[in-house]
Amino acid sequence: MFEKYKICDQFSLSRHIVVYPGDCLDLLHRIPDESMQLIVTSPPYNIGKEYEKKLKLKVYLDQQAAVIRECVRTLSPHGSICWQVGNYVSNGSIIPLDTVLYPFFTELGLTIRNRIIWHFEHGLHCSKRFSGRYETIIWFTKTKDYVFNLDPVRVPQKYPGKKYFKGPKAGKYSCNPLGKNPGDLWVIPNVKSNHVEKTEHPCQFPVELIERLVLSMTNEDDWVFDPFIGTGTTIIAAIRHNRRGVGAETVSKYVDVARDRIEQEMAGTLRTRPMHKPVYDPEEAGNKLTVAPWAAKRDSAQMELYVTR
Ligand SMILES: C[S@@+](CC[C@H](N)C(=O)[O-])C[C@H]1O[C@@H](n2cnc3c(N)ncnc32)[C@H](O)[C@@H]1O
Repeated sequence: MFEKYKICDQFSLSRHIVVYPGDCLDLLHRIPDESMQLIVTSPPYNIGKEYEKKLKLKVYLDQQAAVIRECVRTLSPHGSICWQVGNYVSNGSIIPLDTVLYPFFTELGLTIRNRIIWHFEHGLHCSKRFSGRYETIIWFTKTKDYVFNLDPVRVPQKYPGKKYFKGPKAGKYSCNPLGKNPGDLWVIPNVKSNHVEKTEHPCQFPVELIERLVLSMTNEDDWVFDPFIGTGTTIIAAIRHNRRGVGAETVSKYVDVARDRIEQEMAGTLRTRPMHKPVYDPEEAGNKLTVAPWAAKRDSAQMELYVTR
């Protein structure tokens, strides 16, 4: 862990960490066929963020299709692609991007293994529809013979002390002592202003989200690739678990942030939210702000009325 490698800007299979400062398609053209074990990304959603120009939906989808096609070429037969997306919004109408991107993968012969719901609690407050509080990760593989390591990502059981009460195993613990399968609904805080990982980038992944994919879908020394690397999160999750990481980013200030965070990761100084840390519960933590002042006032007025009777 935290082994020091050089951060290169040009791809070669002999390297460990590559941050390519440019267009992902240029980088993809240099990556050999079937060499990437995990491709995981959150592409631009075409919603007019500072790093993207809002395009006609058809143009945007054509661009995504071109990147996906090249990614599939570079994917190992034992590998996985995870595309993490939310909604495209136009005139108040939402289009869940996973639904329109799904056929691009299946038409290239890939098989979907899970549609993971990533639930978080913070984001824009909508006034004309319910506020969006989840995004999805669509996970595809090229063949049936794909890497899937469940044990490193198991989570604590709800009832670890539960035992079989009858049958040949009566009295023995009924659950796996290593924990349970985390399922396909992942509750992980998103990176907003109070998050320890927040940088100037508006849409970072939390590192723990990608660690779960890296640990379950790759083995040590495998390549993990993110065509839209942003602040370098995917590479951080990869090198933290002794994998190789490569990604592209067109905006130079984010390339600098990515390099800086990767350097910090190798130095062991990058602050991240640990995997398996329970989500903060303000009531459980005794946070006074959970008591509504107007409700408290009403209660004390009620009490006065009661006492003076
Ligand atoms: C949703 S963000 C990804 C953030 C990333 N997951 C993280 O944790 O920081 C998408 C990123 O893709 C970059 N980008 C947009 N078009 C690109 C392209 N053609 N090639 C490479 N990067 C691109 C944007 O500048 C932006 O930083």
